[in-house]
Amino acid sequence: MAHCHSERSEESLFVFGAASATLSSRAKLLPWGHDISRPYGVMYLAAMSSVENPTEKTLAELRVRTPESVTSLFAELREKANKEQRRIEKAEQFEQFRVKWVGRKSGILTQVTDNWLKPADAGLKRIVGQALNEFRNHLQSLVEQARQDLDARATQVADTRERVDLSLPGVIRPIGSRHLIRQVFQEIEDIFFSIGFSVVEGPEIETPYYNFEALNIPEFHPVRDDMDTFYIDLPKGAPVPLLLRTHTSPMQIRTMEKHKPPVRVIVPGKVYRRDNPDATHSFMFHQVEGLAVDTDITFCDFTGTIEYFVKQFFGPSVKTRFRPSYFPFTEPSVEFDASCPFCGGTGTAAAGGTCSKCKGAAWIELFGAGMVDPAVYGFVNYDAKKVSGFAFGIGIDRLAMLKYGIDDIQVFFQNDVRFLRQFP
Ligand code: DAH
Repeated sequence: MAHCHSERSEESLFVFGAASATLSSRAKLLPWGHDISRPYGVMYLAAMSSVENPTEKTLAELRVRTPESVTSLFAELREKANKEQRRIEKAEQFEQFRVKWVGRKSGILTQVTDNWLKPADAGLKRIVGQALNEFRNHLQSLVEQARQDLDARATQVADTRERVDLSLPGVIRPIGSRHLIRQVFQEIEDIFFSIGFSVVEGPEIETPYYNFEALNIPEFHPVRDDMDTFYIDLPKGAPVPLLLRTHTSPMQIRTMEKHKPPVRVIVPGKVYRRDNPDATHSFMFHQVEGLAVDTDITFCDFTGTIEYFVKQFFGPSVKTRFRPSYFPFTEPSVEFDASCPFCGGTGTAAAGGTCSKCKGAAWIELFGAGMVDPAVYGFVNYDAKKVSGFAFGIGIDRLAMLKYGIDDIQVFFQNDVRFLRQFP
């Protein structure tokens, strides 16, 4: 037997499912040669075929009759299992291995029990049982070892993937900043906060009533020409038309409807008009509306408030003036100007020549305003005989352009970071 062993190549004796081995090489591998009574001719071929799947045969069929042959048979099987176990790299291979060897239904361990142990001759039964026990333990440890190896390998892969390289440069998260328009809103809000105004906001989609009628702009009033604007497509039978508000003034009405005087509010927000875009026009821009109504507000309170605002916003040396104007919802109405902050109200640039900002006029137009027209109070159930007040509507984009020397309104909406970064 020992001699037989030494002659065997490293290749396993049992060829599970493989059909490529040649007749002569298999002949050399037979371990139980001495069990074969006639090692030639028919008997020889019969033994050969039994080698293919020996665990499907009984020991008698395999002609294994001595304890040594049994030991040798199990040793072959163990070697085969060892070899297959070493090749396991993936979870699927592990599962195949497990099912093939210890699978309950038709695993090799079960076959060995059914085909080798159960029908074994009384003389061999004990030795087969013992070898089978050892083999079972061995298989179990092979399976366990393979499972641990796979786990370790998975952990290693995950560790490599998740490893933190502290020498790498950090992730730089670009920090954004508020848009210049937002910053100007904030500046204006702060100024009006400081003199007792509060901020309210309102809908960008309005009804013609709030956008026009309640502001004393009836349907065929000529000022609508400027403002007849974006209407919303509504389903048939909608109760009222809707439009994008053309100014923040509708919030005057909404505020007075809700609150009894005194009222002191500013309303920052977006407004929309059908304007063709150019350096000073956009179909969407920004306003801050202002409204102060109380029992004893005078024209002096009005101009004083505006002057305070303009000095806070442009600087203490800037002067204000107003000119008569017209708005349907104020009476009297005015247009406020500021002395040009760039040339100090001289009309002449510091380096000589005409100031490019005010074009030599020394004054810059700021915004419209006025004392609230008593007709407006009629729409909000205020008693026009008891209350008075003023209102103003500041174009924010224009003010921001003036203050920060921007010559094209479009840059506010193009979101070019090269522009935005200039106002961190
Ligand atoms: N709503 C006006 C516009 O968009 C601006 C305006 C003028 C608002 C005078 C006012 C005001 O509150 O009193 O053209």
